[in-house]
Amino acid sequence: ISVDIASESEEQDSRLYDELLAHAESAAHKAYAPYSKFRVGAALRLSDGRIVEGSNQENAAYPSGLCAERVTLFYANAQYPHLAVTHLLIYAETDKGQVENPIVPCGACRQVLLEKETVQGSQIKTILAGKSRNYILDSVAELMPLQFVPNSLNG
Ligand code: THU
Repeated sequence: ISVDIASESEEQDSRLYDELLAHAESAAHKAYAPYSKFRVGAALRLSDGRIVEGSNQENAAYPSGLCAERVTLFYANAQYPHLAVTHLLIYAETDKGQVENPIVPCGACRQVLLEKETVQGSQIKTILAGKSRNYILDSVAELMPLQFVPNSLNG
């Protein structure tokens, strides 16, 4: 029996996506989003296989809230600063359930995700999950064509 490596790794990928989706969905259910009622969950996989999840956190002083992506990445960086992020999945729902079309991270989150990718020196495979379709990106850099990165500070 010949072993098809590509489909074996696709199967592993799809198992991982399912696992990340379950984490992101459960994180979204814990979102603090009483103002927008738009609950976002993010789940990321670290290089040691650990999965970290988080949700958006709002505030009565609206700009003081933070998106699920940054909550999750900053938590991962605070707890496991030396581990790389290999995968990230983003899920969102309203009172009608999961959004049909995937949501994409806001500009500020793209900036923060990009810096993680730049500093760790490896790509973050990103899955934007919608009910009707997913967008799968090999790298968060695909969301950010002209980049301000740590080295930009050197002039
Ligand atoms: N939000 C996220 O958490 N991630 C995104 O990618 C887009 C927006 C949050 C911010 C706010 O709490 C709510 O969704 C509505 O904008």
